[in-house]
Amino acid sequence: MRSFFTYGICVILLFSCKGKSRYDAFSPGKLWSDNNGVHINAHGGGILFENGRYYWFGEHKTPGSEGNAANVGVHCYSSEDLYNWKDEGVVLTVDPVGSGSDIEKGCIIERPKVIKNQKTGKYVMWFHLERKNNNYSDALSGVAVGNEITGPYQYLKSVRPNSGFYPLNVSEIHKQKTSSVDNIKFNGWSLPADVDALSILVRDLSKGQMARDMNLFVDEDQKAYHIYSSEENSTLHIAELTDDYLSHTGRYIRCFPGRFMEAPAMFKRKGKYYLMMSGCTGWRPNQARSAVAGSIMGEWVELGDPCLNDTTGTTFHSQSTCIFPVQGTEDAFIYMGDRWNPEDAIDGRYVWLPVKFEDDRFFIEWKDSWKKDLFDSL
Ligand code: GAL
Repeated sequence: MRSFFTYGICVILLFSCKGKSRYDAFSPGKLWSDNNGVHINAHGGGILFENGRYYWFGEHKTPGSEGNAANVGVHCYSSEDLYNWKDEGVVLTVDPVGSGSDIEKGCIIERPKVIKNQKTGKYVMWFHLERKNNNYSDALSGVAVGNEITGPYQYLKSVRPNSGFYPLNVSEIHKQKTSSVDNIKFNGWSLPADVDALSILVRDLSKGQMARDMNLFVDEDQKAYHIYSSEENSTLHIAELTDDYLSHTGRYIRCFPGRFMEAPAMFKRKGKYYLMMSGCTGWRPNQARSAVAGSIMGEWVELGDPCLNDTTGTTFHSQSTCIFPVQGTEDAFIYMGDRWNPEDAIDGRYVWLPVKFEDDRFFIEWKDSWKKDLFDSL
C-alpha cells in the first residue's frame, strides 16, 4: 500500500513538472529529458551560443542498430541554463528513400557542428557524410546553410577537403607516391606500415583528402577552421575555411601522424589552443588524448590523457564531441562526450563534465552529479 502511494506521488510529480524547469544539475550518463519529457536526441553534438541561449545540435538517432544511420537528420535543442533543453526540432532533414540524393535517408551524418558567419549572417553546418550503402568509404564533408539558427538548413554540397593542395607542413616524402599505398587494405584504425612512408596524402591529392570525425572552431578574428580525421583516420588535419565558411582555402596542416586521433574537440583559453581527442575504436570508448598549441596551425604538442582517476581508461565510458565555454563565468569550460549505444542508438547517453586547468594543462574528473557553481571552486 505504502509503495503504491509513493508511486502515485512520483507520477503526480512527474506530470506536474512536465514542461517546467526540472533540472538543476548535470547527471552524466543518465537519461536526460527535454521539455517534452523525451530523452535528448542530439548525439555527436556541438554547442553554439547566441542572444543568451545555448543551441545544441546533434545526430538524431532512431531505435536499434539501424538507428546509427541518418534516418531523420540533425536535431536542435536550446537552453538558457544548460540543464533544461527545449526541443527546437529537426533542422536538417534527410531526403526521402529513392531520391538518390547525397543525404538520402539511410546515409550516415555524423558529428554535425554549426557556426555563425558574422559577415553573411548565415548559420553554417558541417558534418561527416557517408552516402547510403557506402559503408564509411566516402569520407566526405557535407555543408548546409540556414538563415535562422534553428533552421531549416539547406544541404549545399559535400566535398573531400583541399583537393590539389598540400598541407603547409608537407615534407618531401608526402609528395611521392609509393607503390604500396594502392595495394594496402586499410581497416580505419591501424596501418600495416609506417604511415609517413605511405603517402596517403598524395594518393588523395586530386580528389581531396579524406575527412571523417570532425569539428569546427571559430577564432577571435572570425576565421573558421575544420578539424578532421584524415588519411584513413591515421592523421588529423586542421584546415582553414573561406570567409563565407562554405569551402576550404587550401591552407591546412597535418598533425599527430599515425596517431589515429578521432572525435576532435577544440577550444581556446588565455591565447592557447587545446584539443581533446580519442583513439580509434569505433563505438567502443577508449583512452582520451589531449594537445596544446600556441598557434592553431601548430606546432601541436601532445599532453596525454586529461582524465583523472579514469581507472578503466575509457574517458569515463565516453568519447569527446565538444568542449565549450560557459558564458559569463571566467575560465569555465564543459566537456561534452557521447556514451554510444550502438545496439540501440537512440538510447546513447551524454557525459558532461567540468574542465579544470593546472598551468598549461586541462583535466576532467568524474562526477555523479554536479552544478555550474562548482566552477567557483576549480
Ligand atoms: C567512431 C566515431 C563515431 C562513428 C563510429 C562508427 O570512432 O567517433 O563518430 O563514426 O566510430 O563506428
